[in-house]
Amino acid sequence: MRIRQHVNPLKSNFFEIPIEPLAFPVGSPVEVELGSAEAYFLMDRAREDPGTSYVGVEIRRDLVAKANEECQREGLANVRSVFANISVDLPRLFGPGQVRRFYLYFPDPWWKSKQHKRRVMAPGLTLELHRALATDGEVHVATDIFDLALDAMAALETEGDGFFANVIAPWTFLRQSPFSARSRRERQCESDGSRIWRLAYRRL
Ligand SMILES: C[S@@+](CC[C@H](N)C(=O)[O-])C[C@H]1O[C@@H](n2cnc3c(N)ncnc32)[C@H](O)[C@@H]1O
Repeated sequence: MRIRQHVNPLKSNFFEIPIEPLAFPVGSPVEVELGSAEAYFLMDRAREDPGTSYVGVEIRRDLVAKANEECQREGLANVRSVFANISVDLPRLFGPGQVRRFYLYFPDPWWKSKQHKRRVMAPGLTLELHRALATDGEVHVATDIFDLALDAMAALETEGDGFFANVIAPWTFLRQSPFSARSRRERQCESDGSRIWRLAYRRL
């Protein structure tokens, strides 16, 4: 199956994706990876913490199908990838306070300045994460691109009025991942020896 490397999330057909409502077992915490690609990270998380429901939000439809097939093959019934656009669909996917953790791992860089508006870490996302997170819920970001890490840090430190607190200290990166799960890109960076910038924030 040929899978596209990138799609432009600002194309009009990505503003009208039909979305089926998500249902979760009562009492099961919900964790969400934004831009989940193959969902390797969520599959690892599900193996180590099977009592949680995991949702991957991904704009490449072929990858969503592939990830769901693999989860089904492996019997990971609590991991589901959904075809949706992070920039517009989060309010339709998650109710207020429903999510325990958001993961934003290696978001697309969109290097050129005229493409910055395609970035997932755009103004408005912080507000949306705050709305959907439970009190004490967390946002975890990882990237090998320092500029993106700084953008995410600045948004989480400064947007809103005391929305989030850095889990270590203001304007501070995590030294290592608190999870043993690894995304595809994270595995690649670790095997290349690339530096990974990690940050974690708690919803206040
Ligand atoms: C570089 S990949 C990283 C994938 C995975 N998180 C990892 O660490 O291996 C970024 C992913 O985000 C997805 N993505 C980018 N913009 C998106 C959007 N607006 N909505 C949903 N997914 C998006 C891309 O299709 C891609 O699969």
